[in-house]
Amino acid sequence: MQAPRVVYSAPEIAHRIHELGGIIDRAYPQGDLVLLGVLKGSFMFLADLARAIRRPTQIEFIQASSYGAGTESSGTVNLSGLPTRESLGGKHVLVIEDIVDGGNTLKRLNSVLASHLTASLEVCTLLHKRKVATETRFTGFSCPDYFLVGYGLDYAGAYRHLPYIGRLPS
Ligand code: IMP
Ligand code: MG
Repeated sequence: MQAPRVVYSAPEIAHRIHELGGIIDRAYPQGDLVLLGVLKGSFMFLADLARAIRRPTQIEFIQASSYGAGTESSGTVNLSGLPTRESLGGKHVLVIEDIVDGGNTLKRLNSVLASHLTASLEVCTLLHKRKVATETRFTGFSCPDYFLVGYGLDYAGAYRHLPYIGRLPS
């Protein structure tokens, strides 16, 4: 298996996450801040971002899947493991995504979380392909429309462990 070609190196990712941590710290008033990671893709980003944000945060996860084993979204987003209303209600909730592509995952999450009566509901995504107008309050990189892997992102379950983000050889 050929190694993916580097698009964002580990130091570039670390630098941007350090910046994002500061931006997020300054953006929120005092009070409970919940980082709600969308599994599995966000696991590495969330772990680094939580350490770049200086204030204490509550960590929660939700599982979303739509891709199966391919590189095209099926369009149907399956959500599971939704946190309880008690764990999110009245708090600032920041959804942590790996990448926004067609925007279906965030649309679905928004509609499900709308009933949770959070103090605020915003999104921080590491990557945004900018193919759709889906707004994210915080974005790491506006990225090219390649299928990207590494640093949490997978192709059919592979490559998530890579410390960098790369493009699959075509
Ligand atoms: P959307 O619902 O089409 O915005 O897709 C969002 C989800 O699809 C992301 O959370 C990823 O898990 C996955 N995804 C989208 N683009 C890529 C990619 O280039 N590489 C790996 N996963 C991707
Ligand atoms: Mg994902």
